[in-house]
Parts: sequence; C-alpha cells; structure tokens
Amino acid sequence: LMNNRPFIVGNWKMHGTRAMLAEARAIDRAAERLIKVEVAIAPPFTLIHATRKEASLIGIGAQDCHPADGGAHTGDISAAMAKDAGAGFTIVGHSERRTNHAETNELVKEKANAVIEAGMNVIVCVGETESQRDSGDAESVITDMLTGSLPEGDIVPERLTVAYEPVWAIGTGRTPSPDDIGKMHRHIRGVLNQTYGEAGASIRILYGGSVKPENAGELLSADDVGGALVGGASLTAESFLGIIMAAV
Ligand code: G3P
Repeated sequence: LMNNRPFIVGNWKMHGTRAMLAEARAIDRAAERLIKVEVAIAPPFTLIHATRKEASLIGIGAQDCHPADGGAHTGDISAAMAKDAGAGFTIVGHSERRTNHAETNELVKEKANAVIEAGMNVIVCVGETESQRDSGDAESVITDMLTGSLPEGDIVPERLTVAYEPVWAIGTGRTPSPDDIGKMHRHIRGVLNQTYGEAGASIRILYGGSVKPENAGELLSADDVGGALVGGASLTAESFLGIIMAAV
C-alpha cells in the first residue's frame, strides 16, 4: 500500500542553515494531514540530526555518502554515519555529484550497495544531457546508467527508488513533455524488470527537474511517475506544499 502513494522528496542541495528548520517544521505539520502522500526531505549533512528532531512525520535523508564504512577519508560521510545522524534514506548518483565530483556509474553502484547494507533506503538518480537527448541516445544512456549504478542482488522494492532527472531540466525551468516523461519512465520500468524480475514492477520511479507547484499536477500525471524529486521548489514550505497538494 505504502508503495502506491506518491513519493515527494525535497533535495535541499547545498542550501540550509538552522534558520531553515522552520521550513522543515512547517512541512512536517502539514504532512500530517496529507496521509495520501509520502513526503521526505534531504537536507545537507549538517542539518540531518536537527531536521530529524524538528520534523517527526516526514522522511529525512542524506544527499550522498562515501561507499566505505569508515576510514581515512577526510571530509567524507559514510552511510552508517548518515543513518546514525537520523537519515532513513540516501540519494546517490545525482547529476551534480556525477559532474562536480566525476562520479562514475561504478562508484554510484558502490554507494547504493553501501546504503542498502547500512539498512537505509536508496534513491538512485539517472538522467541524460541535452546533447544526448538531441542525438537520440537518451534511452540507451539511461539503460547504461541504470545497469551501471543500480544496487546489486535481490532487492526489496520498497527500499529502492529511481529518480529520472534529465540534466537539461535541472534548475532551468525547462521540462520534458508529460509524453516524453512517460516514455522514459516506461523504458526505465523495462530495465528494472530485467534487473530485478518481479520486484522491478513495484519500484517507484520519480521525475525530477524544474518541478514547481504550477506544473506538478501535469508532470505527476505522466505515465508511471511515482512522485517527484524537487530541488529549488522544496526550499520553502509554501512552494513544497504546493507540489505535495498537487500529488494528492
Ligand atoms: O534533485 C532535484 C533536482 O536536481 C531538481 O532541481 O531545482 O530543477 O527542482 P530543480
């Protein structure tokens, strides 16, 4: 049943000091009334613990982790550490990590495995660039990213979510048409079925990229869209709740 609910996740990226805890609190208060939607936020590492204390109903997650359990990795955070701070899930393979930190599919897969191993749920992000879409390669690019990045072994479908975020739609105000989103989500579904067999059918696939209160209803109604991964519009309770309402 839980898996049938739309899953709306706010990715705060590198935004948020303690002043933003008021937004988390406001989202959490409203989420109480919105039992038809599963709501979560991924604040920066520094706010995970405080957000968890502030907001008791919504999910709280991390935006990344290191694949190792621990060790000499200055500045890095392991999955177990994120979990200990209060994270229930971790996002891996976001395009900003892939681009800004040269993360490969192989590394993203190691991170995804580490998150599952640590007992958290994982959101694996994939998305094509604009030139890859223009040259007609979007579907094959996504197939390669998925097969290269998805966690290994049998999976409990509730514990894995895939986020389709076309790179050209992130923070740009541009989005694919609902038809194009539906087409890609059906393609991703095919890869999930091939990778995980029966479990593949109930893994949620989120759309991400310039989701706002004004377009959320349309984007969420595209074929096989199980929710949204939201950047900019998740930073205030007002706009994030606008998206959550559109998902009900
Ligand atoms: O992870 C969500 C993100 O990449 C989308 O960002 O600002 O276009 O909603 P935005």
